Amino acid sequence: MTQPHQLNALLDTLLQQCQPLYVEGKVADYIPVLSQVEPEQVGIAVATLDGTVYSAGAATQAFSLQSVSKIFALVMAMNRIGDELWQRVNMEPSGQPFNSIVQLEWEKGIPRNPVINAGAILVSDVLVSHYSASKSAFLTFIRRLCGEEAIYADPQVYLSELEHGNRNAALAYLMKSFGNIDAEVPQVLEQYFHQCATAINCEQLARSLLFLANRGVQPHNNEQICSRRDAHRVNAILSTSGMYDQSGEFAFKVGLPAKSGVGGAIIAIVPQFGVITAWSPPLNRFGNSVVAMQLISLLADELGLSLF
Ligand code: DON
Repeated sequence: MTQPHQLNALLDTLLQQCQPLYVEGKVADYIPVLSQVEPEQVGIAVATLDGTVYSAGAATQAFSLQSVSKIFALVMAMNRIGDELWQRVNMEPSGQPFNSIVQLEWEKGIPRNPVINAGAILVSDVLVSHYSASKSAFLTFIRRLCGEEAIYADPQVYLSELEHGNRNAALAYLMKSFGNIDAEVPQVLEQYFHQCATAINCEQLARSLLFLANRGVQPHNNEQICSRRDAHRVNAILSTSGMYDQSGEFAFKVGLPAKSGVGGAIIAIVPQFGVITAWSPPLNRFGNSVVAMQLISLLADELGLSLF
């Protein structure tokens, strides 16, 4: 059994083991700025509830948070409007790609869950409609969680998404046509793209999500970030939908609540232990990082972390 003090060495070994996979996958290019990211970068960090952060590789290199931002926005929306949120968005896996449109029409503008794009855009609408300065409220929330002021929204990524966001705009206007978006669509999209454009590194991201591994309480200052019930609910959604159409396979192989982003990051929550963040830009056809998935899978296996 690996002891905590051996974890840094184990992480280094896992990075070596994943070397052959670096050539698999493809960096996201539907957001043009993301296609310029150097593909052969890889980092991993494990933050544990006692405040220690173990890491290897490019763990302090900032990357684009992308869909992992959906977790922070969801927690903010749950805190602000409570159960009302679940009248407007469902909690079921979609069985469709993350930016699919067809299901949303069949289901009358109610997104399947809050971590596919439609659901996250709806959550952004909640933030725009319930915070006077919703973009800075989002950044302030992440800064508070990771205890660092250095987190920012990358203006280049933001603009690149805004210029190439027609599909997300279609999702937003479709929901608006069903009466499920309150604010003006351009404002909602700005909020959503701003969240996705957050620049963060593996160590910061792992630290900032520790409350989900600790029943809603952030361990470094004992702050209750969300209720125990909502921490449970977020983890449930991440388990069933966080890896999109690969969520079943991830549960089968790894057995942890997880969320991916097209910037190449994947986070996995290990209740009562900590948070793992792995990052490597090339993605598979589901939009999940090939190397980050393998790293988390090997680590969970080595440490016996599966919940099942
Ligand atoms: O809206 C988009 O398509 C991107 N900003 C985020 C998608 C994403 O990260 C999906 N994750 N794997």
